[in-house]
Amino acid sequence: MSKPDLSHLRADVRAIQAYHVQATRPGLIKLDAMENPFVLSKALQAELGQRLQSVEINRYPGPRTEELQKALADFIDLPQGHALMLGNGSDELIGLLTLAMARPGAKVLAPEPAFVMYKNFALQMGLEFVGVSLKADFSLDMAAMQAAIDAHQPSVVYLAYPNNPSANAWSETDIGTIIDWVSAYKGVVVMDEAYQPFAAATWLTHMREHPEQNAQVILMRTLSKFGLAGVRIGYLVAQSAWVEELNKLRPPYNVSVLNAECALFALEHQEVYQAQAQTIIEEREKLFAQLSAIEGLTPYPSSANMMLVRVCKADTSADQRHALTEAWFKALLEHGILIKNVSKMHPLLSGCLRLTVGAPAENQAMVQAFQQIAPTM
Ligand SMILES: Cc1ncc(COP(=O)(O)O)c(C=O)c1O
Repeated sequence: MSKPDLSHLRADVRAIQAYHVQATRPGLIKLDAMENPFVLSKALQAELGQRLQSVEINRYPGPRTEELQKALADFIDLPQGHALMLGNGSDELIGLLTLAMARPGAKVLAPEPAFVMYKNFALQMGLEFVGVSLKADFSLDMAAMQAAIDAHQPSVVYLAYPNNPSANAWSETDIGTIIDWVSAYKGVVVMDEAYQPFAAATWLTHMREHPEQNAQVILMRTLSKFGLAGVRIGYLVAQSAWVEELNKLRPPYNVSVLNAECALFALEHQEVYQAQAQTIIEEREKLFAQLSAIEGLTPYPSSANMMLVRVCKADTSADQRHALTEAWFKALLEHGILIKNVSKMHPLLSGCLRLTVGAPAENQAMVQAFQQIAPTM
């Protein structure tokens, strides 16, 4: 059989690296993707099963997705003058916003290290991506941000609040300053609150209290970290004029009726998910203390359901750092723990692993593995 000829494909598409999902296997403790580790009780599983049985899958989604939109608006107490739009995960919303802003010469900026899809979507849609390095402690480098914003006037600036992969939440004063800079030339600041269930603050409070100062802000959220990563529901919130325009690019029926039903069910049982998030927050603090006590490990404080851990000293060379992180990654895998090696993602991350905070027994197994491996490194 002859091979297909791909020569009409865009050369830049062929050059893009696909998003890498790590392989897993049954029995592995999966702590690499910031998923909620808890499954529903048997009783709730049965109730959800009943609900899904009667979903009209022969029809296009319609009323149920509208009801989900209303339920989410209630859930977040949607500020006046604002609207909400659903996406097939917030990934889709990042893509749609990028598409909407892709005027000739438009640029996208994010502090780095950042969630990789900001850059991927920018490159896919022909926008230049400007990465501005964070400081070594992962705080915003405001001088560098100001210089880059002045020089490039990016149409979109992404601020993940808390950030992935550093897991910290930046200073509200710094965020407000960046919003002022970007608003001055009518760009957009995206407050990406994917990790909001585990954070102490939300920018929605500022949008509600100071709508004029936040007219150029689009807030994104997802139900993925809340507990529905498999369901794929993201949403964005902004003043209605933004949502009206972005809605034009949304594929019709982008959210499956099965996904909408699952999300409605989860919101009806939000206290279950809120209790799970509370457990994760408590586990995170325990994990931080336990990892800090292991010789050679430096965990970073987290406001999310993940944690960065540096496994080498400041004076270790870059090559040695990568080798050491890879050795740690493999040793943890041999102990049945899958985490993410982010050492090569950005110079600030060299020597770092990123872990997800799991269920109590999973975290205990992970800490034990770290304790056993540490003397061998
Ligand atoms: C900061 C950030 N934004 C957005 C997403 C995408 O979330 P979703 O599962 O809703 O597509 C992620 C996923 O890890 C993330 O870390």
